Amino acid sequence: LYDATADLTVDTTGRTPEEVAAALREALTTVRVDLGERSYTVHIDTGLLARAGSLLEESGLAPTRRALVTNPRVWELHGGRWPADPRRVVFPVPAGERNKSLRQASHLYRAWMEAGLDRRSAVVAFGGGQVGDLAGFVAATYMRGLDFVQAPTTLLAQVDSSVGGKVAVNHPAAKNLVGAFHQPRLVIADLDTLATLPAAEFREGLAEIVKHAVIRDARMLEYLETHRTEIRERNPAALRHLVRRNVEIKAAVVSADEREAGLRAILNFGHTVGHALEILTRHRLRHGRAISIGMAVAARVAERTGRLAPAEAKRLVRLLRGFGLPTSPPALAPEEMLRVMRADKKAIAGRLRLVLPVALGRVEVVDDVPESLLLEVLGGSD
Ligand SMILES: NC(=O)c1ccc[n+]([C@@H]2O[C@H](COP(=O)([O-])OP(=O)(O)OC[C@H]3O[C@@H](n4cnc5c(N)ncnc54)[C@H](O)[C@@H]3O)[C@@H](O)[C@H]2O)c1
Ligand SMILES: [Zn+2]
Repeated sequence: LYDATADLTVDTTGRTPEEVAAALREALTTVRVDLGERSYTVHIDTGLLARAGSLLEESGLAPTRRALVTNPRVWELHGGRWPADPRRVVFPVPAGERNKSLRQASHLYRAWMEAGLDRRSAVVAFGGGQVGDLAGFVAATYMRGLDFVQAPTTLLAQVDSSVGGKVAVNHPAAKNLVGAFHQPRLVIADLDTLATLPAAEFREGLAEIVKHAVIRDARMLEYLETHRTEIRERNPAALRHLVRRNVEIKAAVVSADEREAGLRAILNFGHTVGHALEILTRHRLRHGRAISIGMAVAARVAERTGRLAPAEAKRLVRLLRGFGLPTSPPALAPEEMLRVMRADKKAIAGRLRLVLPVALGRVEVVDDVPESLLLEVLGGSD
């Protein structure tokens, strides 16, 4: 694709073919998140981490110190991709959703103090969504906020959590209860890191990809249906396309509604039920699987309330299952799930809000789903 540009001889701006090729590559490998003075660029490409130094500089980040927060396994596998940097201090945090916690945040505050990080320092999150949410939350609150960079290494983090500025830690009472909006200054999604991702982790990301397709993009939904093998085999062109398209969708929604006054709520499709399942299974059910079940439940509720054609609900369930994702709630008391859902921060005055598909590619936010219907769908194994 890029080689075609070498033949370009006519360029009205008077640039050399090399400059045109570089500009084209730049256009093909970046997505801009438009947020006024908080705008930033998401880079999506192979070989990006080796160029991290210049990417940081181009974004105006020349801090005196950099705290790189990472997952031990990620650091072991991919730490060597970063250029050596005497200004960098590495802070590994233990893996797992249970460690997206105030306790780990507190360890980081202390460790950063001891390492002498100050307001001119920057924070880089290098790992999956757990590392990104935790490091971002600590970056947002330490000394009232440090510059923050996301370098996501899971499919889920590259297509979703690294973009949009939501950062948080969990509390025993609710998922993501303690958090902030803290946009990154730059996102570096190096596709090379995905090669080592375990299959189960890869599926986690596919769940958020299906979410984006259902809320905004019927064409991508079709692509997912027709390219299942390429996707599962992590064909480089398929991965590049998917990460880019998903970042575009997320960026568009976030640019229109940074703080979730309206539109951004559609990104919670599958998440009201999903978060309840995560809490009730104490995170033994991972986020992607939990929202996969949440999306299937939402589709059934949409079908039962006459919003979604039964064939479309089936199509969504088939797509999720085709990726090896679950679509039936685990054996938990439906009343318990409902109780936790009412405590979710997406509920308003205890009134549940659900994002329901009205077609595959379009959703609406609904707050009048009868609880009896929800209990029935949650209790059914379909
Ligand atoms: N902030 C947001 O907008 C947002 C959006 C979606 C999800 N999330 C959050 O993201 C979290 C889930 O993130 P996740 O699915 O990335 O899980 P994760 O961060 O827990 O990572 C999962 C595991 O993958 C391993 N890993 C990561 N990258 C690897 C690589 N390249 N090669 C090999 N192993 C690798 C790690 O060791 C880790 O144990 C949840 O807490 C969820 O709430 C946040
Ligand atoms: Zn999610």
